[in-house]
Amino acid sequence: MKNGSVLKIENLRTYFFSRSKQAFSRAADGVDLELEKGQTLGIVGESGSGKSVTALSVMGLVTAEPGIISGNIGLKTDAVQKNLLQDVDDYVKLSSNNGRIVGVAKDNSGWQRHMDRVLRGVRGKEISMIFQNPKLAMNPFSRVGQQITEAILLNTSTVNRREARERSLYWLEQVKIDSPRLRYDNYPNSLSGGMCQRAMIAMALSMEPSVLIADEPTTGLDATIQSKIVNLLGELKSNLGITTLLISHDIDVIKTLSDRVAVMYGGRVLEAGPANEILAADQLNTHPYTAALIASIPTVQQIRDKTDLRAINGDVVDTVNLPPGCRFYDRCRRMTEQIRTRCENQEPAMSRVSPNHQVRCWRYFEG
Ligand SMILES: Nc1ncnc2c1ncn2[C@@H]1O[C@H](COP(=O)(O)OP(=O)(O)OP(=O)(O)O)[C@@H](O)[C@H]1O
Ligand code: SF4
Ligand SMILES: [Mg+2]
Repeated sequence: MKNGSVLKIENLRTYFFSRSKQAFSRAADGVDLELEKGQTLGIVGESGSGKSVTALSVMGLVTAEPGIISGNIGLKTDAVQKNLLQDVDDYVKLSSNNGRIVGVAKDNSGWQRHMDRVLRGVRGKEISMIFQNPKLAMNPFSRVGQQITEAILLNTSTVNRREARERSLYWLEQVKIDSPRLRYDNYPNSLSGGMCQRAMIAMALSMEPSVLIADEPTTGLDATIQSKIVNLLGELKSNLGITTLLISHDIDVIKTLSDRVAVMYGGRVLEAGPANEILAADQLNTHPYTAALIASIPTVQQIRDKTDLRAINGDVVDTVNLPPGCRFYDRCRRMTEQIRTRCENQEPAMSRVSPNHQVRCWRYFEG
């Protein structure tokens, strides 16, 4: 783990068993990601590429079987230094054929107890998460402020209820919710979507976590509220230096908030590097998938001009029946004849194109 790294995910494999296909779908299939202190790492990728599964794996919240089956998730904070997947091998036995995992024997209840033990003191305290639908994440029967107060009492060194109440009001003010004292006594369902997301952010931050995971924090909100939440996240980032793993479909949100970006496809990271290199306007030096993804998303100008967009041709790769070569092979528009055989038959490894920028594509091995 680098000196400044807080979270380092290595070779994370989270598979689900598909009964209809009698095979594993590889939702996360060897994911590598590194998050540095004070930075925001944006994760982009089409629907189903494994972004949420990766985040939920970090939180130990994957419930379907078999769930996380192997890898390392290193967490290094002032209070905790450990591999969140330590000793998972004791509960999970893998059988493989030609390097591919074909069978998993897992003691599920033992594994769940083990994960709960390992993640005690990590969930909430060290890593908090905000989701797309804050109303579903909050308890509808408990007042907003009460929920934040309880979270503070449970996850921080504050033990005095009056102090915890003051802290929750402080955090409701920090997220600029309108009339914090009034909102404190509201139930989640009586808040608007934007207010509820602010309350959720206040709750996540009130636990003073080392890492915040935000999975589509603005999706589902209307456009003006979205931009207010993005501004808020930007302000919180510069004022508090929060370390964030940010997942979003919205490239503008990623562009505004991220220092680094990882591009996921078919359960793997295909490219990772500085946000300005990955999201560069010309897209000449990025992975063919990144270029196609960016070209498929309308800019404000394109919406205004009603310009035709270049949708990514073909279907998202099926992680139950992965091809032997590059996962993007069937859809790639930048493949040359010179590398076609390699692209079709051999999966490229990550290669470094600049000191902090890595790409998984045979084009970068040409010449
Ligand atoms: N509990 C589960 N059981 C079985 N398959 C699952 C489960 N959760 C996710 N998957 C599958 O894993 C793959 C990755 O899902 P994931 O939710 O991580 O995608 P995503 O990149 O977050 O997509 P989106 O942008 O739509 O949120 C998908 O094919 C999904 O159907
Ligand atoms: S490895 Fe080949 S098929 Fe895959 S993205 Fe690169 S050029 Fe395209
Ligand atoms: Mg998702």
